[in-house]
Amino acid sequence: MASSETTADLLGVTAMPVKRTHTCGALREGDVGSAVILQGWVHRRRDHGGLIFVDLRDRYGLTQATFDPNVSLAAHAVASALRNEFVVSIEGTVRGRPQGTANPNLTTGAIEVVVSRVTILNSAKTPPFYINEDSFIDESLRLKYRYLDLRRTPLRDAIVLRHRLIKRIRDFLDERDFLEIETPILTASTPEGARDFLVPARLSPGEFYALPQAPQQFKQLLMVAGMDRYFQVARCFRDEDTRADRQPEFTQLDLEMSFVDELDVTGTIEAMLIEVIGACSPKKIQSTPFPRISYADAMERYGSDRPDLRFGLELVNVTSLLRDSGYGVFKAAATNGGQIKAVVVPQGASWSRREVDALTELARTFGAKGLATAALGPDGVRSAFRQHIGDETMARLIEATGARDGDLIAIVADAEPVVNSTLSRLRDHLGAKLGLADPNVLSMAWVVDFPLLEHDAERGAWTFTHNPFCGPKDSDIHLLDTEPGAALSKQYDIICNGFEIGGGSVRIHTRSLQEQIFHLMGYTAGEIQAQFGTMLDAFEFGAPPHGGIALGLDRIVAILTGAPSIRDAIAFPKNQSARDLLMSAPSPVSARALADLGVRIAPINTVPSGS
Ligand code: AMO
Repeated sequence: MASSETTADLLGVTAMPVKRTHTCGALREGDVGSAVILQGWVHRRRDHGGLIFVDLRDRYGLTQATFDPNVSLAAHAVASALRNEFVVSIEGTVRGRPQGTANPNLTTGAIEVVVSRVTILNSAKTPPFYINEDSFIDESLRLKYRYLDLRRTPLRDAIVLRHRLIKRIRDFLDERDFLEIETPILTASTPEGARDFLVPARLSPGEFYALPQAPQQFKQLLMVAGMDRYFQVARCFRDEDTRADRQPEFTQLDLEMSFVDELDVTGTIEAMLIEVIGACSPKKIQSTPFPRISYADAMERYGSDRPDLRFGLELVNVTSLLRDSGYGVFKAAATNGGQIKAVVVPQGASWSRREVDALTELARTFGAKGLATAALGPDGVRSAFRQHIGDETMARLIEATGARDGDLIAIVADAEPVVNSTLSRLRDHLGAKLGLADPNVLSMAWVVDFPLLEHDAERGAWTFTHNPFCGPKDSDIHLLDTEPGAALSKQYDIICNGFEIGGGSVRIHTRSLQEQIFHLMGYTAGEIQAQFGTMLDAFEFGAPPHGGIALGLDRIVAILTGAPSIRDAIAFPKNQSARDLLMSAPSPVSARALADLGVRIAPINTVPSGS
C-alpha cells in the first residue's frame, strides 16, 4: 500500500454518489417493485456462498440487502469485501422475501432489496465491541466510544424517547401559555444543597462565576418580571458524589407559575405527565389522580421519602409492643430513643437458612447491627427471640404485622434513621426478589407536608430541607418564632418507582419572611445581602405569589426505558468518577492558561480536606 493510500481507497471508497430514496426502516410490502437507494451501516453480513445478505442499518431500522451474482457480479464482489460498520450506498429493487423467510420482528421484515449497485462510502475499523449484539460491555469502553455505543439499539431508543418526551412537554406547556426562557450558565452561586462548580473569570482576576445548581433565583425573578408562566429544559450542575441516579451535569424540566397554590402546580405537572407519558411509553401509570402521601407517613410506612409504591410490604412500627419485652436488643434500642420496625416477607418461612442469613447480611451492609426474624412455619414459630418475648407477645406481634402462616417477620431495632434506611432498602430488595415491582407500571405519587427546616448539628443552626426559598404553610408561620422544627412547608416532591423525579414548592415572596428564614439559618445580615440581596431587593418591587417545580428529565427517561442508571438516558454522560471518558475531561491546562486566569494550583496534599 502506498503511504498515502488508506484501506478505504483500495476498496474504492467514494464520495456520496447519489441521495437515498428511503431510510432503512421505511420499506414495506407495498414498495415491492420500486427502485430504491438506501444508505447506512453494515450491521451484519451473511455469506451463503452464492448469495450474500447484508443487514443495512440506520437510525430508523434495518433492511436486508441481497447480493446475487446473477443480478450484479460487480456488486456481489464488493459485498464480499464489506465488513461490519462500513458505510455503504446500495441501489436496487424491492422484492417480497421468499416464502417462509419473512422476519416478523423487523418492520421491514417482509421485503428485501436486491442490489444492482453498491458503493462504499467509508470503511470502518473493527469496533471495540459488538454493535449488533445485546451483550454485556464494560461501561468505560462504552463511554470512551460513546459514538459507537449510540449506534446500539438500547441507547439509540433512549435518545429517541428523550427527544419525543421533551417535544411533547414543550407542546403541552406552550399550549398553556408557558414561555421557554433561557437563563445564564455563567452566574453566581444558587444553593440547592450541593457544591458549586466554579469558573475563574479572566476579566475579573481572583473572582469566579458559579455554574447554576438550578435556575431557581432566575425563575423567581422572571415571576417578579411578570412573565407569569416560565419553563426551561435546563442544564444544572452540582458538584456532588455521583450515583446511578445522579450526574454532575443533568437536565431539569424547570417551571414556575405566578398567582398559584400547591394544587395548581402539582395539577399542571400531573396532567402533563399523564399526557406525555401516555403518548411516548407503553408503561401504565398505576393510579390517577396521583396519590398524595405525607412525608411523615412515608417515613413511618416505608422508611423512605421516595418509596416504591408498586407493591405493599409496608413497615410496621412495633416499638411500643416490644420495648418492654425480655429481648435485650429490642429493649436497648427502645430505651435509647430508637425504633423497632418489622417487615413481613410473604412466604418467607420456607426460605432456607442460607437465604435468611443472606437477608441478615444485607441488613448489615445497609447499616443495621442485625436482623431478628420469626418464621411462621408449619410446625409453629421458629425464632431466636421467641423465648425472650413469650408466646403472648409473639401472638400480638403476628397480629400487629398482619403476618400469615408461611410468612417471615423481619425486624430491625436501632436508631430511627438506621431502622428506616435499612428496612426501606430491604423492602426494595424484597420487591425485586419476589417480583413484586412490575417493570411495566409507573407508580407516581406526591409526597407533601415536609418539615420546612432541619437542625444542622454541625453549624448549630437550622437549615433548609429543600432550598431556602420554600414557603412555610400559612398555618405554621407562627411556629417559626417558637418551634421552627415543627413548621411544615409548601414543598411537594413527585416520586416514581422508588425515585424522586421532581420537587418544588410555593415560594416565599416577601422580603420580611425570607429574611426571617435566613436568620433562622444562622446567616448574618451581611451574608444575606451578599448572597441573596438581588432576590430580596426584587421582592420589594411587587413580587407576585408564585410557585414551581423541577423534574429530573434524565431520571424520567431512565425509568421509562428501564435503564439501570441515568447514564443510559444521556447522550454524553460522565462516569462514576465524574469524568468524561470520551473527551478526556477534566484535564490539566497549560501554565499559560492558568496564568491568564490568575489561578495557581496548590500541591494536592496542601489542599485542606473537605474543601
Ligand atoms: P431539586 O434539587 O429537588 O429541586 O431537583 C429537582 C429534580 O432534579 C433531579 N436531580 C438530579 N438528576 C440527576 N442528577 C442529579 N445530580 C440531580 N439532582 C437533582 C431530581 C430532582 O427531583 N430548584 C429546585 C426545584 C424547585 O423548587 O422548583 C430544584 O432544583 O429528579
